[in-house]
Amino acid sequence: MTDVTTTANASTVHAVTAATDGAMRALGRALAGLSRPGDLLILSGPLGAGKTTLTQGLGRGLGVRGSVTSPTFVISRIHPSLVGGPSLVHVDAYRLGGPDEIDDIDLDMTLPDSVTVVEWGEGVAEGLSDDRLEIRIERHPDDGRTVHLTPVGHRWAGVALPTSADIADEGATGVPDENSEG
Ligand SMILES: Nc1ncnc2c1ncn2[C@@H]1O[C@H](COP(=O)(O)OP(=O)(O)O)[C@@H](O)[C@H]1O
Ligand SMILES: [Mg+2]
Repeated sequence: MTDVTTTANASTVHAVTAATDGAMRALGRALAGLSRPGDLLILSGPLGAGKTTLTQGLGRGLGVRGSVTSPTFVISRIHPSLVGGPSLVHVDAYRLGGPDEIDDIDLDMTLPDSVTVVEWGEGVAEGLSDDRLEIRIERHPDDGRTVHLTPVGHRWAGVALPTSADIADEGATGVPDENSEG
């Protein structure tokens, strides 16, 4: 499938096909390769869309400590880098009431030196930064996913985002599970 880039309301939406969970992790890894301290990624999409799966790939790509999991009782988890890079701050905003409540967890303290990913962050986390990558995952009846990437702000302007072709091979050959060794 070809990648579709459309321009709407002055923001460019870049669509990537992720046919498997391996492809979704590969997309996360590709995004890790582009990420810098201070970056904010806002993930949206229904339960089971693949938000945590993408974050697992991101954690792998950043080389951070600990398994990236869906936090049930934890709103925010910090994974320190094992390779001298930025930490991954993984937030689940599902239970947060809105922008006021996200202020209470002081993400602005860790934001400058970390890569911050907020699951269920749409409509909640935008106020954290004028520069962000908004990632909306669409799940299809055949279980494939289309990932819509919307760069917002100067930081992401002109950044060459991953394409379906970049992640398809890894997805097809499979990527080791987050918790498997070897
Ligand atoms: N692109 C994909 N294609 C098929 N299955 C996927 C894909 N991405 C994720 N999955 C699977 O969907 C399930 C839910 O993913 P998860 O990342 O936990 O979703 P979310 O965090 O959005 O609720 C997992 O079993 C995962 O392996
Ligand atoms: Mg999740």
